[in-house]
Amino acid sequence: MYFPAYRPRRLRQNENFRRMISETKLSVDDLIMPYFVVSGKGVKQEISSMPGNFRLSVDELVKEVEEVKGLNIPAVLLFGIPEVKDEAGTYAYAEDGIIQQAARAIKEKVKDVIIITDVCLCEYTTHGHCGVIKSGKIVNDETLEILSMIALSHVRAGSDMVAPSDMMDGRVGAIRKALDENGDKDVPIMSYAAKYASAFYGPFREAAESTPAFGDRRSYQMDVANAAEALREVRLDIEEGADIVMVKPALSYLDVIYRVKTQFGYPVAAYNVSGEFAMIKSAASSGLIDEKRAVLEVLTSIKRAGADMVITYFAKDAAKWL
Ligand code: PBG
Repeated sequence: MYFPAYRPRRLRQNENFRRMISETKLSVDDLIMPYFVVSGKGVKQEISSMPGNFRLSVDELVKEVEEVKGLNIPAVLLFGIPEVKDEAGTYAYAEDGIIQQAARAIKEKVKDVIIITDVCLCEYTTHGHCGVIKSGKIVNDETLEILSMIALSHVRAGSDMVAPSDMMDGRVGAIRKALDENGDKDVPIMSYAAKYASAFYGPFREAAESTPAFGDRRSYQMDVANAAEALREVRLDIEEGADIVMVKPALSYLDVIYRVKTQFGYPVAAYNVSGEFAMIKSAASSGLIDEKRAVLEVLTSIKRAGADMVITYFAKDAAKWL
């Protein structure tokens, strides 16, 4: 086919033709909205680096989740910011921990919204790392036990799906085993399978108070330069029992999303992270870009690359626009 026989513009000439040939349809079904939960009552504290996002106490969170349900968004992802932290992150699996309270409250008051809970240590440890520290090292296998306890306690409290974000080796298998042994064989795992050591987590770490006190996360999160390794990480998580595999961040890793989807055909989630959110907000507030168009373009691109679902701080806005 060559010009003038083939004129691609023919099918672009009006909205109905464009609708008919559109290859990627972004829908509210694809969205997951993240939230930061704190203790207290009536707390709704805006996160300065993430305008429109708040640290919410459980009562305020419940109102938000009701709104999410009203918008028909299928799921929320919860991060806890505990009142007390310790060296081993024990508050992460406390029965009255912040996530546990949140999950119970949502389950009681809002029906039919999937509660996904982030399973990690960094928000709960004084050192801010995602694993247990021994002699200055982040130790892998000791961490698995704690992660399993966190996952179990989330599920006990009402979490519908756990999402381990720590990047320790073997944690999906350890969590799967713990859930199965405790009668929770039907609870799925969404694993942060290919999670990169990214500069784009900056605003999140401010929001979640989880910046590492020393060093960085490069001994457990992936090197930005690697894609074949991401496929090995994903394979491992699938073999260990992951139901949904995640690529994070999204925008600098569209190639990884594409390859993961093509190679494994598993449900793929992409995390449109805090720094990606903040960049759009910042450019839009200085009048440099049109926020709505930019957001819908970004989310559509992530889907086009192969993601089945997108975790995004724009989920509510996008749901209203769609
Ligand atoms: C915790 C975690 C992080 C994010 C999600 N889970 C931060 C990190 O790894 O430092 C980042 C999310 C975002 O930036 O929106 N392990």
